[in-house]
Amino acid sequence: MEFERSDIMKKLNAKEALDLLLKDVIVTRSDLEKSENRWVKHCIYVAIAAGRIADKLGLDVDYAISLGYVHDIGRKISHPNHTIAGYKYMIESGYPDEARSCLTHSFIDNNIYYTAGGIPHGQDRFDYMNNFLQSTTLTPYDNIVQMCDLFCLETGFTTVERRLLDITRRKGVYSNSEMHFSKTMELKKRLEKQMGCSLYDLFPEITQESLDMADMEREELINILKENRTEEKGPILGKKY
Ligand SMILES: [Fe+2]
Repeated sequence: MEFERSDIMKKLNAKEALDLLLKDVIVTRSDLEKSENRWVKHCIYVAIAAGRIADKLGLDVDYAISLGYVHDIGRKISHPNHTIAGYKYMIESGYPDEARSCLTHSFIDNNIYYTAGGIPHGQDRFDYMNNFLQSTTLTPYDNIVQMCDLFCLETGFTTVERRLLDITRRKGVYSNSEMHFSKTMELKKRLEKQMGCSLYDLFPEITQESLDMADMEREELINILKENRTEEKGPILGKKY
């Protein structure tokens, strides 16, 4: 699926996306090893993963790689508010279409409730993001980057099960955590059906130990989510979902 795009609008390619990602952050190779730049390596792995999935789906590989590179680009400006910061940065850089991945990558199927670590804080921020997500038509590229964000670390690829368990242990359980987990696994199944293979078949770098542990870690995650069920809605009071 291609977006509507005016002829004068630039389409981001992978080389430009990588240049944008590294600009002002990675000047020498040693900058890539700095702990504050771990997110850059994560973006590189998301880009690689997005390209492989797009290839399997017969989509535009270069475009998927580009979106992977820039999805967390807002971390140049602000870690806590990297989604909106990245969106604005991409628009200012002349790529309004690709700016979408900065805002859509954390929300499965572009639904603001299907996100890890609790829904966005602050009513204004919530409204801004929710309005964007609701007025943006979901594309396969959004889904690909959303999936990749949930198994790509700064050190490489892992299982979705291990990644979600780790996020839950670090960030805790929120009212939307069970929903996010089930929507993530739904997306994984949907992509696997479209690809005709397991997601992990595309990533032989994932260790056998990780694959062997996936079922057990999924069960552990389900138990943590059940045991810590909460009705606390955070800043979004009275919203049922
Ligand atoms: Fe990310």
